[in-house]
Amino acid sequence: MNKIVEILPDLTALVERSSEIIVEKLQAAIAKNGRATIALAGGSTPKPVYEKLSTQALPWDKVHIFWGDERYVSPDHPDSNQRMARLAWLDTVPIPPANIHPMPTDAADPAIAAQQHNAELQAFFQTRSGEFPAFDVILLGIGDDAHTASLFPQTEALQVRDRLVTVGNKDGQPRITLTIPTINQAHTVLFMIAGANKQPALAQIFAPVADEITYPARSIQPQGTLWWLLDQAAGENLQST
Ligand code: 6PG
Repeated sequence: MNKIVEILPDLTALVERSSEIIVEKLQAAIAKNGRATIALAGGSTPKPVYEKLSTQALPWDKVHIFWGDERYVSPDHPDSNQRMARLAWLDTVPIPPANIHPMPTDAADPAIAAQQHNAELQAFFQTRSGEFPAFDVILLGIGDDAHTASLFPQTEALQVRDRLVTVGNKDGQPRITLTIPTINQAHTVLFMIAGANKQPALAQIFAPVADEITYPARSIQPQGTLWWLLDQAAGENLQST
């Protein structure tokens, strides 16, 4: 794993830099493989990055969109990560609908939805059971509790190593999330982190020793390149190892 930490002066610079890296990695994947695969983060930080990406000139028919996690709500719910990305970006560019692969949230049992998406990913990437696909890019954030995607502290999802997709749990609310081994198979993982409120979590994530069950983002050690893009407010007191 190759880890890169960049501290940007403010959110605007973080958005610009994130977009620049994402476009570069997508273009490289398209040049190499004829297509690019990216899994999107939810929450609030990525929204301006998606708005920036909507202004970029990419061969959108060669880009495939996935999600790193999803709240278990309908796609038109205000909390939907899919809805946020479509409004900020995907509805504004000529990307074929078939290239957008949302996490399903319509099964009565979230575990069924996770199994459905697991099968969809295996079919798309042509992986067999026990194999993990290598997304070209996976975008992530962290919560104040050092969760990432929907891999929350002290939850069962952190132990799932035999599937691509599982059910996350945020205070009893179900989520769908990529698993740690799936994220760690990525060619590029890009954390986009903004705000002083993330400093305590970052200190634990970057500490030489800390518990991965308590601070799940520590488990993200991709086989490719791990980028930490932090704004000054988030990164100013970080002792980077
Ligand atoms: C989600 C995200 C989640 C997010 C962090 C940070 O579904 O909420 O995937 O993991 O990245 O909670 O969220 P903010 O960017 O809003 O701080």
